[in-house]
Amino acid sequence: MDEEFGLRPGEEALALPDRYDAGLHFIGRLRTPWTRRADCPKNNLGNEAVCTVALDPAYAPALRNVEGASHLVLLYWMDRAPRGLLVQQPRHADGPRGTFSLRSPARPNPIALAVVELLGRSDDTLAVRGLDCLDGTPLLDIKPYFASTDSRPQAIVERAGKPAR
Ligand SMILES: C[S@@+](CC[C@H](N)C(=O)[O-])C[C@H]1O[C@@H](n2cnc3c(N)ncnc32)[C@H](O)[C@@H]1O
Repeated sequence: MDEEFGLRPGEEALALPDRYDAGLHFIGRLRTPWTRRADCPKNNLGNEAVCTVALDPAYAPALRNVEGASHLVLLYWMDRAPRGLLVQQPRHADGPRGTFSLRSPARPNPIALAVVELLGRSDDTLAVRGLDCLDGTPLLDIKPYFASTDSRPQAIVERAGKPAR
């Protein structure tokens, strides 16, 4: 395991399987200003940095009509995260938490998501706002964000016994 991700007290990890069940193609890379995890934004909302979705040119035809969306869902692969952690101690949490209760990049399938604002397109690149990943993070998919079906304004997550939005 990467030293940066060494086990903290209370954390539990799993031995990884020797083979995976699915194959993925990285369809591009996310170009961001951040080269160290510590510098990445902790919160996508209110993060003003303009980042670039650099799509592999072979996938460019799939961008047709994408400009019709003001916001996109990006799915990306946290390539520098460990995959065995089942229980994690987030730096600022009051105790260890199950991986599936967290948005941590460390998870069995390190898939991350962000709803980004689409600022513009030029051929096979998109300018977006609202990313939080390291420069060069592989891109898995792009989908339009539908406020009508994707938004759940009443949703809460309990933190330190209190509901948070
Ligand atoms: C808390 S995760 C949230 C990711 C995504 N917004 C989500 O909700 O699925 C974001 C953090 O992952 C870390 N990170 C960013 N890019 C990474 C990468 N390529 N590999 C591993 N960790 C990464 C940074 O510490 C960043 O602040």
